[in-house]
Amino acid sequence: MGWSMSWSGSNSLFPTFALYSGDDVETRELVRVHHVARRKDSMTEIPEHLLKRSKERRAALGGGSDAGEASPATSPATVGASTPATAPKPPAPARVPPAPPPPPKPDPAYVVAAKIRKKVPFWAMATLSLLPIWGFMYVQGVKPQAKVVHGPIGDGKQVYSSCASCHNADGSGGVGRPFVNGAVLKTFPHIEDQLNLVYTGSKAYKDTNIGPYGDPAVGHLGYNGAFMPAQGTGLSQAQILAVVCHERYDLGGADPASPKYSAEYTKWCAADSAIYAGLKDGSLNFDNLATKVKGTLEIGIKPRKGTPAGATS
Ligand code: HEC
Repeated sequence: MGWSMSWSGSNSLFPTFALYSGDDVETRELVRVHHVARRKDSMTEIPEHLLKRSKERRAALGGGSDAGEASPATSPATVGASTPATAPKPPAPARVPPAPPPPPKPDPAYVVAAKIRKKVPFWAMATLSLLPIWGFMYVQGVKPQAKVVHGPIGDGKQVYSSCASCHNADGSGGVGRPFVNGAVLKTFPHIEDQLNLVYTGSKAYKDTNIGPYGDPAVGHLGYNGAFMPAQGTGLSQAQILAVVCHERYDLGGADPASPKYSAEYTKWCAADSAIYAGLKDGSLNFDNLATKVKGTLEIGIKPRKGTPAGATS
């Protein structure tokens, strides 16, 4: 970067300043062209008094016409031969027509390349500015997910999303009955009865005139005129156990550590429950479970009379 100063012409009083930077090729080129133009001007400009003298000389020689100028080679030769003593000076150089200005120097290849190169459009800049955010989210995405709870309780929470429309996400009820505050445990003192109801639905109970499902002392059937739709066709038996565990322990409030529920929890709803594993691999089902697993009530896939709270298998 530097300053360039030049007089812009002989009749100008003011110098021209030009600032050019190390990489401003165009500015430097401009300054250079300006200098060349000035040099050319001073070469072609012939002072007025010299022109006048040349004219007088030519008049004195009698060859003042333009013809004399047209053949400068012959004229001095003949004159020189006749009067060598008074050999005149060679004719003043004729006014040379100014040479046409040189064609502008073409830009160097790298300037041309810079001019025609496509610039990054603004929308692309906006998009590219989001790249770090995308990178951050990508890294988050490939990170191993937080460990999900496996076993009936964890799986049941997911199955319950198809029940929440009627029973509410927190089990507080809606079209369907509430499960909270031990309500579901009261209706089903035995988990086997709840498994049967969810599989068959309460409409089947009404249609077969079996009477209320669950503990007969509670007597639930036709809640506000609505009936529980059968789930046995849409869900697997393992999924039904999982969602029932979720309703009893997560929503209903049963305490897995309490003397009342610890045995049931370990047997049916713990992550390592053998019954859950058996339902998943098909070795157990709602029909054969009571005969295959000791101390288990009949489940069945048809509506049947429920079991009183105090009854034991
Ligand atoms: C279309 C609405 C609806 C859906 C969906 C629904 N239920 Fe029900 N549920 C009901 C109704 C209505 C009752 C009451 C039945 C009755 O009183 O005859 C009920 C009752 C129950 C009961 C008995 C509660 C008690 O204390 O009497 C259980 C358990 C139950 N539902 C579980 C489920 C499960 C598990 C799902 C999801 C897999 C589910 N429900 C999906 C409407 C629904």
